[in-house]
Amino acid sequence: MSETLANLSSESRQFPPPEALAAAANVKAEAYEEAAGDRLAFWAKQADRLTWAKKWDQVLDWSNPPFAKWFVGGELNIAYNCVDRHVEAGRGDKVAIHWEGEPGDTRTITYAELLKLVSQAANTLTDLGVGAGDRVAIYLPMIPEAAVAMLACARIGATHSVVFGGFSVEALATRIADADAKLVITADGGYRRGKPSALKPTVDEAVAKSPSIENVLVVRRTGQEVAWTDKDKWWHETVEQASPEHKAQPFDAEHPLFILYTSGTTGKPKGILHTTGGYLTQVSYTHDAVFDLKADTDVYWCTADIGWVTGHSYIVYGPLSNGATQVMYEGTPDTPGRDRFWQLVDKYKVSILYTAPTLIRTMMKWGDDIPAGYDLSSLRILGSVGEPINPEAWMWYRKNIGRDRCPIVDTWWQTETGGVMISPLPGVTATKPGSAMTPLPGITADVVDDQAQSVPNGGGGFLVLRDPWPSMLRTIWGDDKRFLDTYWSRFGAGAGQGDEWIYFAGDGAKKDEDGALWLLGRVDDVMLVSGHNISTTEVESALVSHPSVAEAAVVGATDPTTGQAIVAFVIPRGNVDIEGDVGDQLNAELRNHVSKTLGPIAKPRQIMLVAELPKTRSGKIMRRLLKDVAERRSLGDVTTLQDSAVMDLISAGMKTSKSED
Ligand code: WT7
Repeated sequence: MSETLANLSSESRQFPPPEALAAAANVKAEAYEEAAGDRLAFWAKQADRLTWAKKWDQVLDWSNPPFAKWFVGGELNIAYNCVDRHVEAGRGDKVAIHWEGEPGDTRTITYAELLKLVSQAANTLTDLGVGAGDRVAIYLPMIPEAAVAMLACARIGATHSVVFGGFSVEALATRIADADAKLVITADGGYRRGKPSALKPTVDEAVAKSPSIENVLVVRRTGQEVAWTDKDKWWHETVEQASPEHKAQPFDAEHPLFILYTSGTTGKPKGILHTTGGYLTQVSYTHDAVFDLKADTDVYWCTADIGWVTGHSYIVYGPLSNGATQVMYEGTPDTPGRDRFWQLVDKYKVSILYTAPTLIRTMMKWGDDIPAGYDLSSLRILGSVGEPINPEAWMWYRKNIGRDRCPIVDTWWQTETGGVMISPLPGVTATKPGSAMTPLPGITADVVDDQAQSVPNGGGGFLVLRDPWPSMLRTIWGDDKRFLDTYWSRFGAGAGQGDEWIYFAGDGAKKDEDGALWLLGRVDDVMLVSGHNISTTEVESALVSHPSVAEAAVVGATDPTTGQAIVAFVIPRGNVDIEGDVGDQLNAELRNHVSKTLGPIAKPRQIMLVAELPKTRSGKIMRRLLKDVAERRSLGDVTTLQDSAVMDLISAGMKTSKSED
C-alpha cells in the first residue's frame, strides 16, 4: 500500500486535566463507554436537555441515506429553549449578554430583557408578513440585535441566512437570491478599527438587484447618514414599539433553522442547511461538555463573528440554550490597543475563552508583554477552532494566557457538522499540544486510506465520519446532488464501495501512536514532493516551533526535479528584525530547522519573510493565492480575501527574492 499522507512530526508533551476541574467536570470518562454501548440512546438522553412540546417517536431515521432525520415526530421551539424557559425557571435577572461596543459603550442584557426583545422582534417580523418557512437574510455587525434577529426568526419558524457583515454587494445579493429571502435585517453601520463602517449602502445596492426582498429592517447603531427607500423600516420604530407578548409555537424537529453559506477557500458558496431538534441537541450538549460550562458562575466569551458557524453554534444557540452568561464584543482585537482582549477578560472576569489559531498567532507576533500586563486569573478553560493549531502556538496560549493552569480544548468541526465533533474533554483528556485528540462521545470519526480502510496508529490519510450525527447538515440548499457529490461520493456506498455511507470532511489527518487525532489541513493543500504526500500543516508547525517565527504558510510549487517543492511564507515574531543580513541568516536557519524537525524531505526550497499573510475573512490562510505567487502566475480570484493589498506586497517581495540551492 502506498503512503496516503506522510506522518513526519512527533510530540511527546502531554498535559493531564487539573485535578479539581476533573473531579467537578460535567462530563466524565464514562460518557465514551456509554455512547459506544448505545449511540442512539446516548443522543436521546442528550435531547432530554431540551424542552420538547412533543416527544419524538424515533431517534434517527437513516432509511434514505445520506438524508438523515433526527428525533422524528418531535416538536420544539428553539427560541423558547434559548430564552423563555430560563425566565420561567426564575433566572430572568441573570445576565445573558455583556455586550461591549468597540468605542467602549456597553449594554447588559438579562434573560428577561432578551425575552422581551426577541418577542418584540418576532411580532414585527410577523407584521412584515414573514412566516414559518420564509427566509430572512441578516447582515449585521456584532451587536445584540444580531442574536435577537436570529432568535426571532427561529421563534416564528423563519429560516435565517446570516451573511457576514464584511461581505460585498455581490456576495450578499447572490446569497439573497439563492435562498429567495423576503426580508433583510441590517444596520446603518458598525464600529471597526475606531470608526463607523457603513453597512446600509451595501444592502441598498444588493436589494436593488433582489426582487424577492419586500422589506429591510434597519438597526440604528452608528447614527451615520443613510439613504432611505420605501422598503426600509427602522428597528427602533418597529421592533422597539411592538408588543413584548409573543407565544412561541413548536416546530417539527426537522424544520429548517438556518442556511449558512460556506465557500471554504475556493468555489461557489454552498448553502449549508441545518434543522431544529438535532442541531440544538448537539450544540447544547457539546457546549456543556467541551467547555464544562457552569452556568451559575462561568463567564463565557467566544470571539468569533456571528456571521460564521462558530457564532451561530457557540455564541447564540449553544450558550443560550444552556443559560450561560457571555461576553459579546463588537470590534477588532487591536482597537484602541493590542491589549483589548485581555482588558475585556479582566473587566468581565471571563472564565472560558474560545478563539481561533489565527488570533493566537497574531497575539504571539504582538509579543508576550501585552497579555503579561493583565490579571487573567479568572480564566479556567481555553478553546481553539478554525484551523490546526500549531504545537508552539498551543504552548504559547497555554503559558501566556492560561498561565499553565487552564486546559486547552482544540475543537475540530465544520459549518457542515454544525457542532463540535473532535475535541478533548477538559476534565478527562490528557491533551497534547496541536492535537484535537479524540471524537466526542456519540461521534464516530476515523482516518482512512484511499480504499476507505482505517489506517493504523502512526498512519495518515483522510478524515471521515462513519455514522450520522444530530447536528449534521441535511443538504445543500436547493442542491441535493451537490450535497451527495461533495461529501458522500469519495468513500463508501456513495462511491460504490459497500453499504456504509461515509462522510468525507475534506481534511487530511493522522493518528499518532496512541490513536490521538492530528488534523493536517485541507487535502487540496497537500504537497507531493518526490513522491511523498506532505501536509502543509506539519511544515508550518515546524516553522512556528522556531523561536523567531509567529506564523507560517506553506505551499507546494511546481518544481522540475521534485514535482512540487516546498515554498514557505513566514511572519517573524514581534522582536525579530528581518532586514538585510539578519533576514538571510534566519532564512537558512529556518530551512535547516525544518529539515532537522521533520526530515530532509520536508526542507523548504525557499522561504519568504513577510509582514502579513493572505487570509479569508474568517482568518484561514488562502494558500491558493500563495501558490500563484510561488509559481509566479497572475493571481486568481481574490474576492474573499480580507485585505487585498497584502498580495501586492508579497508578490513584490517574491520577484526580488532568490531561490536557494
Ligand atoms: C474547516 C471547517 C468549525 C468552525 C469554524 C470553521 C478547519 C476547523 C479545526 C481544528 C484543524 C480545523 C478544517 C475544517 N478546522 N477547526 N480544531 N483543527 N482544523 O468552520 O469555515 O466550515 O471550516 O476548518 O479544515 O474542515 P468552516
